[in-house]
Amino acid sequence: MAKKKTVYFVTGCAGFIGFHVCKILLEKNYKVIGIDNINNYYDVDLKINRLRILKRNKINFKFCKVDICNFKKLEQILIKLDKFKVIHLAAQAGVRYSLKYPKAYIRSNLLGFWNILELSKKYKAEHFIFASSSSVYGENKKIPFNENDSTDNPIQLYAATKKSNEVIGYSYSSLYKLKITALRFFTVYGPWGRPDMAIFKFTKNIINNKPIDVYNKGNHYRDFTFVKDIAKGIILASFRKDKKNFQIFNIGNGKPVYLKKLIQILEAILKKKAVKNFLPIQKGDMKSTYANTNKFNTTFKGKFVSLKTGLIEFVNWFRDYYEK
Ligand SMILES: NC(=O)c1ccc[n+]([C@@H]2O[C@H](COP(=O)([O-])OP(=O)(O)OC[C@H]3O[C@@H](n4cnc5c(N)ncnc54)[C@H](O)[C@@H]3O)[C@@H](O)[C@H]2O)c1
Repeated sequence: MAKKKTVYFVTGCAGFIGFHVCKILLEKNYKVIGIDNINNYYDVDLKINRLRILKRNKINFKFCKVDICNFKKLEQILIKLDKFKVIHLAAQAGVRYSLKYPKAYIRSNLLGFWNILELSKKYKAEHFIFASSSSVYGENKKIPFNENDSTDNPIQLYAATKKSNEVIGYSYSSLYKLKITALRFFTVYGPWGRPDMAIFKFTKNIINNKPIDVYNKGNHYRDFTFVKDIAKGIILASFRKDKKNFQIFNIGNGKPVYLKKLIQILEAILKKKAVKNFLPIQKGDMKSTYANTNKFNTTFKGKFVSLKTGLIEFVNWFRDYYEK
């Protein structure tokens, strides 16, 4: 009898990173059950159009519109699964939004996270992989950020929820021997990107001759990471072979640039000068992010494209999606 293949249960499948993860899994012929509540934090059409692409695979992709805060509905799906791995990406993302709408973060990132974790334990997931964030490094002054550095000083609620996820995850791995991997992503960009993020906003405004808001005179230092590299990295991590129940990995490019440099590269690709509206640093913003990638790269042999290559692919997608 043929061996039953593991099913991937992906939360946040209509989101930016979730879409790319599902797409690669489907290309590799895995069965994927994707869930998302398609909330309106940003343009819902973008989420629906990502889903439309995934739904083309009628054999291996199944979508359920579910909120991760609805334990009962989640259980109805997970109870039916035999061998499965969980890739938990659904969350309230964004740093600035957390200053205005803190409750959304408590709801999805704490209660929703716990629901998925508890059900992963109850129905014996083979592996629970989830999205943490470079924001957990908070006030850490030492760069590059190493997985062992202190994360005791998050500077906004979003980061605090991600740090909590890591701590709660650790306790479950220890109590119930559930295999858990926390992945700290560093500023992700690329095709099908999030409209609330800098690269998306800059590209849109430069193309439309509108000014771009540049905080802190462009002196933020960011480790921009291409979404397809992140998605491949998540899938590689889902095959983690070591015996440790709980592991944390940075997934970042490891080559940070100043925001002002990023703007120059974008201007060159778009062949247009940006009109810059300089603004002071925002509350809760980290001045720099920089991943030490040794742990991830030695374990998984991760590969990362250059910022210029990734930006060209993003701009090509942007023009194709919005201008045709
Ligand atoms: N994009 C980045 O730069 C970045 C960096 C670090 C960490 N992360 C983390 O990676 C994950 C994916 O981020 P993304 O950039 O793809 O964001 P995204 O907002 O595009 O995707 C998240 C998806 O989850 C869904 N979702 C949110 N709350 C939900 C709920 N209560 N129930 C069901 N679905 C819900 C949303 O509708 C969305 O489609 C998030 O956990 C985020 O915090 C992202």
